[in-house]
Amino acid sequence: MGTLRRPGLDAQPMSLLSEHRTLLKPLRGLYLHIPFCSIKCFYCDFTAFSGQKKTVSRYLSALDKEASFFPDFKPDTLYIGGGTPSELSEEELEAIFKTIRARFPHADFKEATFEANPESLNAEKIKILKESGVNRISLGLQTLDARLLKSIGRRHSPEDFLAVFSNVKKTGGFSVSVDLMYGLPDQSLQDHLQTLKQILDFFPEHLSLYGLQVEDWTLFSKREVKVDENLAREMFERSIEILKEAGFFHYEISNFARLGSESLHNKIYWRNGEYLGLGCGAASYLNGARRVNEDRLISYCVKLESGQIPVSSSEKLEGVERLGEMAFLGLRMLEGYAPSQESLRVLAHQWISLMDRGLIERRGDVFRLTKEGLFVANQVFMEFVPPFERTQLRALSEVAS
Ligand SMILES: C[S@@+](CC[C@H](N)C(=O)[O-])C[C@H]1O[C@@H](n2cnc3c(N)ncnc32)[C@H](O)[C@@H]1O
Ligand code: SF4
Repeated sequence: MGTLRRPGLDAQPMSLLSEHRTLLKPLRGLYLHIPFCSIKCFYCDFTAFSGQKKTVSRYLSALDKEASFFPDFKPDTLYIGGGTPSELSEEELEAIFKTIRARFPHADFKEATFEANPESLNAEKIKILKESGVNRISLGLQTLDARLLKSIGRRHSPEDFLAVFSNVKKTGGFSVSVDLMYGLPDQSLQDHLQTLKQILDFFPEHLSLYGLQVEDWTLFSKREVKVDENLAREMFERSIEILKEAGFFHYEISNFARLGSESLHNKIYWRNGEYLGLGCGAASYLNGARRVNEDRLISYCVKLESGQIPVSSSEKLEGVERLGEMAFLGLRMLEGYAPSQESLRVLAHQWISLMDRGLIERRGDVFRLTKEGLFVANQVFMEFVPPFERTQLRALSEVAS
């Protein structure tokens, strides 16, 4: 998600990181997708629908039915994302948590995140979240500039955000993450840095910083919006410096946290761990297989109502594809990734060529993005995505035999 950028690689010494990694037992994540929004933002291509309020209760029943297919799943983290989960009414929120409690009675959530937009998270909903065990709220802000909020199709004002943030903090018991975007049309470096500095005055525990991606089928794409890549790069570079000075740990390309406040759930994705995704368009990775659900709202409901699983595609990741996926997910984390001997052999061309080009560096067993690699991370990751060269496929079969 977001334009992939930049440094912060010296945040932690490697020896500490390796030690930390071996202490962690693999966690399993549960993701619930709530695909409803009041309006569609001009840049957004997520599975999210506006004007579908009448479908919400039908959808929640379908979600409950899908959850009932996984009685043995024991998740360690929960992420309720969207769309806009805070668009649900108080009664609908209660229904979601009832599903979670009933269908995953053995869950032991070390982290439970709820995604919210400032215009729809009222005090009553915050109370329900707290009582239901949510301990992390991810607030989508994007910018504190009222003019820019309007120009990207957001429905909330800067004041809405400030009121919700202070309500959440007053209630207590939540770690708060804020989503910001940079590289927006007509956004100056000054505009972006001002938002960033203002946000820091509120002491959130976590920040996600995404460079605008102009996605197909969005209003921005139709308007042929172009991102000024040099300016976006400068915004990202300056943000990293500011966040580092403010005591944030840059732990993933787009994510910054006060130490100990990294997202456990998202780390499961980046470490190639297992997760179950429920809902329209949700993805899962279980037992080495990736599945993606039907992303049309009504078709998703109809499938479950007729007793079918709502999966639209499923594949077992094997061989060079699996090695490639593990490599590019692992490299997203700035602490780096230690490839297996098999990966070093089969993907030797990629590892060597990226090092030769100065985009990754090696310290002992661990490879990580260089500062330059961070700025062109998408390009680095493309190297690990099929099609692969025939020599690599041959190398893999030699390893196997
Ligand atoms: C799951 S989305 C939306 C969550 C929530 N509904 C909201 O609007 O804040 C999470 C974040 O992705 C980012 N995002 C979405 N579309 C993007 C795009 N085209 N380019 C860059 N960032 C994007 C935004 O920062 C957004 O808050
Ligand atoms: S950015 Fe969030 S609120 Fe806007 S359309 Fe996408 S999911 Fe909905």
